[in-house]
Amino acid sequence: MRMPITLWHLTPLSLFSTASPKPPATPYPTYPIPSTSSLKEIAQLYGSSLSLHAVQESRQRFGLESSSAICFKAAKISVLLIDDGIELDKKLDIKWHESFVPTVGRILRVEHVAEKILEKGSNRTTWTLGSFMEIFTEELKSVADKVLAFKSIVAYRSGLAINTEVTEKEAEEGLSDVLSAGNPIRISNKSFIDYIFVHALKVAQSYDLPMQIHTGFGDKDLDLRLVNPLHLRNLLEDKRFLKSRLVLLHASYPFSKEASYLASVYPQVYLDFGLAIPKLSFHGMISSVKELLELAPMNKVMFSTDGIAFAETFYLGAKKAREVVFSVLRDACVDGDLSIPEAIATAKDIFAENAKQFYKLDVSSKNSDVKPPLSSSFQEEELNSSLKDVTFVRIIWIDASGQHRCRVVPQQRFYSSVGKHGVGLTCACMGMSSTSDGPAVDTNLTASGEIRIVPDLSTKCRLPWLSSWIFSDMAYMIRSEMTLFHSFKCLAMGFCHLSSYCLLKTILNLPIFIECLVNRAELQYLHLQITICGMGAKQQEMVLADMFIEPGKIWEYCPREALRRVSKILKDEFDLVVNAGFENEFFLLKSVLRDGKEERAPFDRTSYCSTAAFDAASPILEEVFASLQSLNIIVEQLHAEAGKGQFEIALKYTDCSRAADGLIFTREVIRAVARKHGLLATFVPKYALDDIGSGSHVHISLSRNGENIFMASDGSSRYGMSKIGEAFMAGVLNHLPSILPFTAPLPNSYDRIQPNTWSGAYLCWGKENKEAPLRAASPPGVAHGFVSNFEIKTFDGCANPYLGLASIITAGIDGLRRNLSLPEPVDGDPEILKENLQRLPVSLAESVEALEKDTLFRDMIGEKLLVAIKGVRKAEVKYYSENKEAYKDLIYKY
Ligand SMILES: *[C@@H]1O[C@H](CO)[C@@H](O)[C@H](O)[C@H]1NC(C)=O
Ligand SMILES: *[C@@H]1O[C@H](CO)[C@@H](O)[C@H](O)[C@H]1NC(C)=O
Ligand SMILES: *[C@@H]1O[C@H](CO)[C@@H](O)[C@H](O)[C@H]1NC(C)=O
Ligand SMILES: *[C@@H]1O[C@H](CO)[C@@H](O)[C@H](O)[C@H]1NC(C)=O
Ligand SMILES: *[C@@H]1O[C@H](CO)[C@@H](O)[C@H](O)[C@H]1NC(C)=O
Repeated sequence: MRMPITLWHLTPLSLFSTASPKPPATPYPTYPIPSTSSLKEIAQLYGSSLSLHAVQESRQRFGLESSSAICFKAAKISVLLIDDGIELDKKLDIKWHESFVPTVGRILRVEHVAEKILEKGSNRTTWTLGSFMEIFTEELKSVADKVLAFKSIVAYRSGLAINTEVTEKEAEEGLSDVLSAGNPIRISNKSFIDYIFVHALKVAQSYDLPMQIHTGFGDKDLDLRLVNPLHLRNLLEDKRFLKSRLVLLHASYPFSKEASYLASVYPQVYLDFGLAIPKLSFHGMISSVKELLELAPMNKVMFSTDGIAFAETFYLGAKKAREVVFSVLRDACVDGDLSIPEAIATAKDIFAENAKQFYKLDVSSKNSDVKPPLSSSFQEEELNSSLKDVTFVRIIWIDASGQHRCRVVPQQRFYSSVGKHGVGLTCACMGMSSTSDGPAVDTNLTASGEIRIVPDLSTKCRLPWLSSWIFSDMAYMIRSEMTLFHSFKCLAMGFCHLSSYCLLKTILNLPIFIECLVNRAELQYLHLQITICGMGAKQQEMVLADMFIEPGKIWEYCPREALRRVSKILKDEFDLVVNAGFENEFFLLKSVLRDGKEERAPFDRTSYCSTAAFDAASPILEEVFASLQSLNIIVEQLHAEAGKGQFEIALKYTDCSRAADGLIFTREVIRAVARKHGLLATFVPKYALDDIGSGSHVHISLSRNGENIFMASDGSSRYGMSKIGEAFMAGVLNHLPSILPFTAPLPNSYDRIQPNTWSGAYLCWGKENKEAPLRAASPPGVAHGFVSNFEIKTFDGCANPYLGLASIITAGIDGLRRNLSLPEPVDGDPEILKENLQRLPVSLAESVEALEKDTLFRDMIGEKLLVAIKGVRKAEVKYYSENKEAYKDLIYKY
């Protein structure tokens, strides 16, 4: 953050200069040849072709102001501290810089002040130490409240072994030594310069100003032996200066270890590694920063670009520094020295916080004024990267037909307005069917009227499959690097290099999928990469939304609200919470060309729980698993299902609202990950009429104060469930036909619910009976004879889970209110007993009829919403009865 003066030369020879602490001999700084990599960076920044000439032309065309603006913006520098004590032919004043950087401050170079004083009072012979010191002190004090720090270049004049006990007599002699040397005045006599240093430090300390001290390399002609910061021992031990704040510049290169040691031992010593970056080779920069961090506390190390004369040097310095710091911190993570959060915090400290404290900068408010940079390469690199790297936010709602839909806003807009106020949406949204994006006729909803889709911020999350895309891509790179490293190690140890070479080859040829090959350290590497460098890590977020009719007033059609409403009744009347755990059955389909036409074919043709099927789909399932994990959705089990290309992922139960949210995200994840792998995942109940169907069976239990109340508390119960559990389940059984329009919402749903397909075709319940629509379940871990939950099989992947759960809870409440009992369970195949059993509705038309007759739901779900749901279902019935093949398109929607 600390910068010396910048000025401008339009000369081709000196595009990339570095700081020169003494007045340069030529009018232009002296390092004429930019490294190829620097040239490349600048060419990229300016969008010019890769030659010095082309770059030069670009910057001439932009002109001074524009090219400076481009560089500073891309460099993302918040604070410029300018040392205006450098003599150059053309200098722009400090004020000029304020249009490029939010905060500009001045650094006072004390030797320069002294030289100016001696030059101005140009009658040399009249100076005495006394008269000089009077003016010098006055001068320092008069600017003390206008500068942010003092700075000394004593290192380059007489070295760092500052004699803090230098006497007035010695200083006086030194002064006349300086004066006798002739014009221009150059203070280099050790006694005199030490004297003014000590004095300046006293003033700095009395004004609580820090002092920058040049250390390590600088000019070519300096005596490197004298710039070792260990020479500062006298000064650092001097009791008068224990409260001073000193920052050693330039990483003290090549004495970085020494500097690190001093910072660890002396509270007053801080470090700055400007100039070491970007002047050294990349490895030089890395090793010097590593050495600097070996002992020094992380909160004492800061960075400055040390840019000078050309705006490009600021950009290069900033860019290289970020790369170097990233590399160093990444290694620290990989080696286990730092955790990722620690590394991120360290990056922030190094690039901002430490300097803010050291120079007492109040830049927090001004920081936010910085406009986004022009250059693409740094757009993502932001301290606030958690927000800045997000492009879009998807605002998701689930309609009456169970389709996931979203509106998308740029993140900026989300935070400025939509996150709070939502987006507008037509009232017709809850009247749409699986086949029409207009309101169905009997829904009582029309194209007139608007609601607000307002995000529920508690559900906002990153799209995990986007980051895992980078992840798998990056994992590949990381893995290669790690393997390479391993091979080197083997070679170095003198054995097995041939096999490790093979290993390298093999691994490089493997398709890499997340997690399977990535260990924790690599994962940290990646996180850091994304966080600090923003390596292409453009992200999106998604959030579930509620429907409001006006601010603060929920719309009576809102499905999430419907679930909350009935959950509240259950809580208020019975002090019960419903827990739900969903299974997800889905098919993976690949695209094949048959007679020049694209068709969907199953991913494989294996059988139930096939190990080969699972193995083949592992890369996808692993990525799904990792994505769900990142969303805190807990997967309990996965297996290949009986259908061709069919799989199942079972989720752990949680309270019903979260379970429904989680189910939505799970379906999003499964479909998205499959898409990434070139497959289509579908939850359609019966996408192929000649294959097994897919359900979204749900396990229901009741809890009170976190305790499972569904399960019997002792062995005396008839069925292993409590009386409360039985009454609730009996309510569900009782109303099951009218629950179906909620949980099996398409005509196609009834193609699945057939006898002998483990989907529950008869109105009955059973204990561990896979053919019963309601199954009392005693999973492993539950004591023998006890039942912990019941599974509803007549729930499928086209159902809106909020409405589905709301209908189940409604029926359960009725069972509780009426103290219903369960009939005898059915053991064995209900098909055999079908004479005595009621068949569940065999079609959507029948189940809607059952719902029409059932008055319970009108009060609980709400009349208007119920009308809309029935209207949508009737539209489905009509459409699919008229379009027999239309079900084939469902795979693209569910
Ligand atoms: C400088 O000061 C000396 C002694 O005070 C005097 O003799 C001389 O004339 C002065 N020179 C100038 C240029 O003022
Ligand atoms: C500083 O000046 C004094 C007095 O003229 C002289 O003895 C000494 O050598 C000078 N020191 C340096 C380092 O020039
Ligand atoms: C940066 O992050 C902080 C905390 O996460 C947040 O309060 C602040 O608004 C963010 N700033 C910007 C510009 O997004
Ligand atoms: C519920 O029914 C059982 C018998 O099935 C009976 O023992 C109990 O008292 C009833 N409870 C209520 C609240 O009606
Ligand atoms: C249909 O909508 C109108 C206007 O919103 C409303 O007044 C009426 O009660 C609704 N009828 C039904 C059956 O929901």
